[in-house]
Amino acid sequence: MKLLHTAEELGNFRDALQGTVALVPTMGALHDGHIAHLGAARAVAGVDHTLVSVFLNPTQFGPGEDLGRYPRTLAQDLERCAAAGAAAVYAPTVDDVYPPSLPPCPVGPPAVAHDLEGARRPDHFAGVCRVVMKLLQRVRPDVVTFGRKDYQQLCVVQAMIQDLFVPVRIVEVPTVREPDGLAMSSRNRHLDPDARRRASAIHKALRAAAELAARGETDPHAVESAMTDLLHAHGLEADYAVVRHDQSLTRVDALDPARCVALIAAHAVNTDGSRVRLIDNLPLDAATPSARA
Ligand code: PAF
Repeated sequence: MKLLHTAEELGNFRDALQGTVALVPTMGALHDGHIAHLGAARAVAGVDHTLVSVFLNPTQFGPGEDLGRYPRTLAQDLERCAAAGAAAVYAPTVDDVYPPSLPPCPVGPPAVAHDLEGARRPDHFAGVCRVVMKLLQRVRPDVVTFGRKDYQQLCVVQAMIQDLFVPVRIVEVPTVREPDGLAMSSRNRHLDPDARRRASAIHKALRAAAELAARGETDPHAVESAMTDLLHAHGLEADYAVVRHDQSLTRVDALDPARCVALIAAHAVNTDGSRVRLIDNLPLDAATPSARA
């Protein structure tokens, strides 16, 4: 496996590759959820080579967010990528991705970015769109993987790629969960044991939403209240616990489980008072026999 640090190294490596290529964009601190992307690129899209980018993108973090304490684990990340059969890891510097000599060219995110994470993290999706476009231009992949765990990000990138006619196929990767249901996330390592135990209530609340829908509940407010109550009962602070249309992420008047998704952002507070913000989601038909991933 090659380790590439610069645009030039990446360009030379890419030019020499024969066959199809998948890009797995990450910010590092890799866990099994990331590694599943490499398997999905091969299994779903049959690509010949996978290239993992490991880049902690500063433009998608706002002031006061957790850029400074985001885990940096490049040595372990490289081992995991090599073991998973990656052809290369592109781990550039900030200046390599954002050359100081170039005037910035913001990429405006689509409408689906405006609410939920976009409303709480004002520049987040503009930063995601910009770095994803840069990575796609540099790597020129046939396939790019995005996880369902960051569901709004997946919708945003899908909309951007469609609107800008970017010639790449998105492979959606199902969320990988811990045995108690907690979605794998690089941020989970900031949870102390008590907060870690309580954090599994996020998945419980999402399951409860899907079960209410499966029993015929059609009032979105009833389902949202049930999720919020369950989070609070487990000592979690809900940032939002909502049901939305699964493509536009707009509010719905009545639930159609086949077309709706439940989304949660919640804070788990450690005993030292530090807070860890976690997000997760589940299609509302997840509790019906023909459940989606
Ligand atoms: O999902 C992430 O890890 C990041 O948002 C991404 C897509 C790698 C862009 O920095």
